[in-house]
Amino acid sequence: MAMCAAVVQVEDLTVQFPPAAGEENNLQALGPVSFAVQPQEFVAVLGPSGSGKSTLLRVLAGLLPPSTGRVQVCGGSTAQVGLVFQQANLMPWRNVLQNITLPLELRGVPQAEAQRLGREWIEVIGLQGFESAWPRELSGGMAQRVALARALIQNPDLLLLDEPFGALDALTRERLAAELLTLWQARRNTVLMVTHSISEALLLSDRVLVFTSRPGRISLDLPVTLPRPRQEEMRYTATFGEMARALRAAIG
Ligand SMILES: Nc1ncnc2c1ncn2[C@@H]1O[C@H](COP(=O)(O)OP(=O)(O)OP(=O)(O)O)[C@@H](O)[C@H]1O
Ligand SMILES: [Mg+2]
Repeated sequence: MAMCAAVVQVEDLTVQFPPAAGEENNLQALGPVSFAVQPQEFVAVLGPSGSGKSTLLRVLAGLLPPSTGRVQVCGGSTAQVGLVFQQANLMPWRNVLQNITLPLELRGVPQAEAQRLGREWIEVIGLQGFESAWPRELSGGMAQRVALARALIQNPDLLLLDEPFGALDALTRERLAAELLTLWQARRNTVLMVTHSISEALLLSDRVLVFTSRPGRISLDLPVTLPRPRQEEMRYTATFGEMARALRAAIG
């Protein structure tokens, strides 16, 4: 990766959208916000619905231009950015293995190598036997695992997760969060993850940014002082409880 002060540098970023039908003023969705994400840091973003969290991720992914301010992703257009949405967004005409290897194909990785890596990832996410299954045959949790593998297979410089477990039931969600924790602790990609779950944010991240309601600004930047490696059981510690209370209060 190129030499940069940070993986992500956001300075005075704002995003406005054109007025909604029947409205006169632009809609200020986000900002101004400023923050940086360091290499191998796992940053969680919490905040009320409509506070511009997905908008921020879309700007970082290069899908939406900033209205004002600056956003720098180390490596610029050559940076490998992985993106996982709330819905898995798998390609319905590609099977599980073909979905996972898609980013490698797009990068021109030879097919045999792509398949080998794809099969490795299928094992990591515990979907052996489902290589040839179609997305419509998967449960929500399985589809989300495939989406995660598809994002991680390119070993991204930056992984953007937008409520990756939001559509799942509570138990599946906890299990997948624990799996992501294990995966991340082994690989340490730089991550920015939007979530509505305080405990998910605390269990996984090094730092939690809390957004105000629209337009989203940062009301709290909380370092997570739990030691690593983390385990699920840390949810029940006093430190965890105190930080959860601080986050709850900041969200309002
Ligand atoms: N393409 C768009 N055009 C117009 N307005 C938009 C567009 N995308 C988002 N908005 C508005 O910007 C604001 C922020 O939206 P965003 O999706 O970023 O919120 P969010 O924090 O991700 O919310 P949630 O937690 O519900 O996912 C909302 O008021 C939304 O209506
Ligand atoms: Mg959103």
